[in-house]
Order: sequence, then C-alpha cells, then structure tokens
Amino acid sequence: MLVHTIKEVRDNVKQWKKEGLTVGVVPTMGALHAGHASLIKKAVEKCDKVVVSVFVNPIQFGPAEDYDKYPRTLDADVKLAEGIGADIIFAPSPDEMYGKGQRLSNDTLTYVAPPYFYVNKLCGKTRVGHFDGVCTVVMKLFNITQADYGFFGQKDAQQFIILNKMVHDLNVPIELIECPIVREPSGLALSSRNKYLDEKGKVDALALSQILNNIKACYNKGITDISALKETSLKFLNENHDLEYLEFVDKDNLEDKTKADDNTLVLIACRVHGVRLIDNILLK
Ligand code: PAJ
Repeated sequence: MLVHTIKEVRDNVKQWKKEGLTVGVVPTMGALHAGHASLIKKAVEKCDKVVVSVFVNPIQFGPAEDYDKYPRTLDADVKLAEGIGADIIFAPSPDEMYGKGQRLSNDTLTYVAPPYFYVNKLCGKTRVGHFDGVCTVVMKLFNITQADYGFFGQKDAQQFIILNKMVHDLNVPIELIECPIVREPSGLALSSRNKYLDEKGKVDALALSQILNNIKACYNKGITDISALKETSLKFLNENHDLEYLEFVDKDNLEDKTKADDNTLVLIACRVHGVRLIDNILLK
C-alpha cells in the first residue's frame, strides 16, 4: 500500500503493535534496484510487517549536488517493493517530513549530528553536512515507524557505521541489519546513480570494483603495506577517473589502519565521467 502521510504510517503501526507483530523499516531514496530489493527481501523474511520509505531527502544533499536531477521512479518502486512483500511504501513530500514552508537549515530545524571523528573522513570530507542530513531523516523514520529492525546496505559502509553509532549513543530501540553489496555480473556495485552513466562510463566504472578486488587478492598473497596496496590500483585508472579517496580503515570504528589486516575495510570514492561513485570491500 502506498501512503504519503506520517499519520497513515502511524495508524498502521499502532494496529500492528497491538497485534504483537514485529516491524522492519527499509529507508531508501527510491529508483529502486536489485540492491534495494535484497534489503526488502531480508526485511520481509525477518519481520512480520515491512515499511519501505521512498524519500529523496533534501537535507542530505549539498547545494552543488544532484538533488533536483536524482532519479524519481515511484510507480516502479511501489511495484517492486510490493512484489517482494512490503506492506507499506511510505513516500512523503518534503513538506510532510519537515513541515510546510520549513526552512531546511540547522538554524531552524533540530538535527541529529553524528560525531566529528566519524564524519570528518571519507565521504564526509567532501559532502559537508551529508551525514547530519542522513542521521536526521533516518532518526525521523525510526520514530515514525517504531521499527524493531532497520535494514541497510554495506554499499554505504560509512553510513551504516554512523547510523549504528547513533542508535547506540541515543539508545534507539532498534537493531540495524547490514546486507551485502549487490553487484552486476561485471562487478559494478548497483547504485541509483549508475543511471547517469552511458555505456563507456559503465566500462570505466568497473575500475572501482577491480581496484578493490585486486587489493584483496594482493592482501591474500601476504601484502599488508598500505602504500604498496594503494600503488596496485594505479593501473586501473585513466583520464576518465578522478579518484577522491582510497582508504584503509577499521571495519567497526573507521579508525585508520597502519597495516592491512582481516578487520580492514577498504573504501573508494571516484568520479567516473563526472559521476561520483563509491564502493568498498572487507579484506577478510
Ligand atoms: P539509497 O542510496 O537509496 O540506499 C538505500 C539503501 O540501499 C542503503 O542502505 C544502501 O546502502 C542500500 N544499497 C544501495 N545500493 C546497494 C547495493 N548495490 N547493494 C546492497 N545495498 C545497497 O542510502 C540512502 O538511500 C539514504 O542515505 C537513506 C539511508 C535512505 C537516507 O536518506
């Protein structure tokens, strides 16, 4: 069932809770693909009732980012989510989420601000304010749905770690479940932003997963020196790539690694033909 208001979600959840049913939430920005579908499937398997939110959240986009052109495919999203067994597709307007005429700035709106240590690195370095926007909207979705379980992808590994930290620090009564990255047969991680790539762009985009797989293969052969591992990536890059970061951090707390080990998460962000893509791999 497609609903647009917070009240409709709350009314349904109230009834479900009365019946003792468990609730799962799958927050998304829509343009759903097989990666999102895997989260919804996991939620349907684990929970009695599932809410999928479809909301392109204005407060997590920077002024120069793609909020206006972000793909919006609500009809197809509803079909896909309902086909898997989602009970509610919650697609609110910005006014519904933030209040009519609300100025979307932290001068006027209560934000959830994740800790500086987690934010001042990786994607947070270039996407200033992004994770404040993510935590704020996700906290709102947790409060609206009263979900017992929240489902997120490892694709956005920094996002997952920050949201888990928020849940822990603010005692939010929910358990977060991390789901593996779904890839095309070529290795390309599925992303709504892949829609911006043409055929040539999709070929050049393979560099991200190739770099990560190659680093893992080298690690498995015994190389643990991070500069040496970074060096192996250069051969995959050409003039269509603008590498933003390639970092080695602890998978639990995002601390920088001095040497690669089994707990190391390798993350990459790279512009390919001007489209910003991210990917990551766990070395274990
Ligand atoms: P969005 O990019 O739509 O992603 C929604 C969820 O799908 C995230 O948890 C993301 O990690 C997961 N996902 C995306 N691509 C995936 C893939 N290839 N394999 C597995 N999971 C994948 O992330 C957001 O939206 C927003 O920041 C949101 C959390 C909804 C807050 O607005």
